[in-house]
Amino acid sequence: MGIEMNVERFAGIRTPFYYYDTNILRQTLDAIKEETKKHDNYFVHYAVKANANLKVLQVINEAGLGIDCVSGGEIEQVLKAGFPANKIVFAGVGKSDWEIELGLDKEIFCFNVESIPELEVINEIAARKGKVATICFRINPNVGAHTHAHITTGLAENKFGIAMEDMEKVIRLAQGMKNVQFKGLHFHIGSQILEMDDFIALAHRINELQDRLEAQDIHMDIINVGGGLGVDYNNPQSNPIPNFKDYFAVYEQHLKVRPGQTVHFELGRAVVAQCGALITKVNYVKQGSVKQFAIVDAGFTDLIRPALYDAHHRIINLSSNEKEETYDVVGPICESSDTFDKGIQLPKTHRGDLLALLSAGAYGEIMASGYNCRRLPEGYTDKEL
Ligand code: LLP
Repeated sequence: MGIEMNVERFAGIRTPFYYYDTNILRQTLDAIKEETKKHDNYFVHYAVKANANLKVLQVINEAGLGIDCVSGGEIEQVLKAGFPANKIVFAGVGKSDWEIELGLDKEIFCFNVESIPELEVINEIAARKGKVATICFRINPNVGAHTHAHITTGLAENKFGIAMEDMEKVIRLAQGMKNVQFKGLHFHIGSQILEMDDFIALAHRINELQDRLEAQDIHMDIINVGGGLGVDYNNPQSNPIPNFKDYFAVYEQHLKVRPGQTVHFELGRAVVAQCGALITKVNYVKQGSVKQFAIVDAGFTDLIRPALYDAHHRIINLSSNEKEETYDVVGPICESSDTFDKGIQLPKTHRGDLLALLSAGAYGEIMASGYNCRRLPEGYTDKEL
């Protein structure tokens, strides 16, 4: 049901590497299409920050999704993958001038603006170029999300977006500018959210804000609800497709969409997490005084999520089906946080075995670093191996 891996095909490929099952990716994209097809005003933009591997991007582009970028580098990458510029939304709390220029030159769909100083700079650069930038304001809705503190973004204390109390002021300011066109509002409350109540709270907050704006004769074409839908890291093999049905039903049932409005989504993790695995080789099995360690050739430089967020990735041994034993699975980097999991059961593990860390398609390869002068992992699809 979940990601399929043929270990014979992995022979001779330098580890660690990322492996992407394009069948799972396509099934995921089909599920999104299925749940959104009855709404011709719903637009799903894939949040490329989750995974910018060109081969993965090409499959997503073929499915017709739009795209959500947070840097000029991401804009360049998605254009290379073939995404049309007019499907790009561009968010980010600190856009540099060259990134704004790139967005204007390529005529992207929309800038999600996060502050007055940024609005002024966009207006100024657009004026210089004789262009008009389409903008939405990112509003901080002060809606909490039941997820890890590092990936909660919609609270008043977070650095993101414009405070609700300042909303009218910034909109009026934009309406008085010649080179920006105000089109709507953007929100994002966090990531790896599994409780639909959090999205319901966001939908209700958007309704409130929209009523408030309409009372002042401010109307919008675009409502962008951001991303954040979580995936099942515990049972990726039996539950590989995220709960798109309930997710889109939240907005269908709770968001009061006005005639002519379009609703935009920015899903990252939910699109790509379950199609990817990090494949790593066991270099040593070491008996410590109280523990048994499987020391693998991948480290937090290849997959930082366990070290950074205490994230859990299911680990399976692709090479052994012997009786299970208990292991800590650790990497080679000289820091204790370079631990993928502790006290887990794996079939008896040997030097040379291949392990797969599942659900690693999102925020895996893209967050790899060269710390310790380590090589960046390659990413391959099933079509190549
Ligand atoms: N839109 C905005 C404005 C965002 O900031 C994000 C993610 C997304 C969309 C996509 O969220 P998703 O659907 O993937 O939850 N590195 C962390 C996740 C950071 C998410 C940052 N923003 C992790 O590995 O869990």
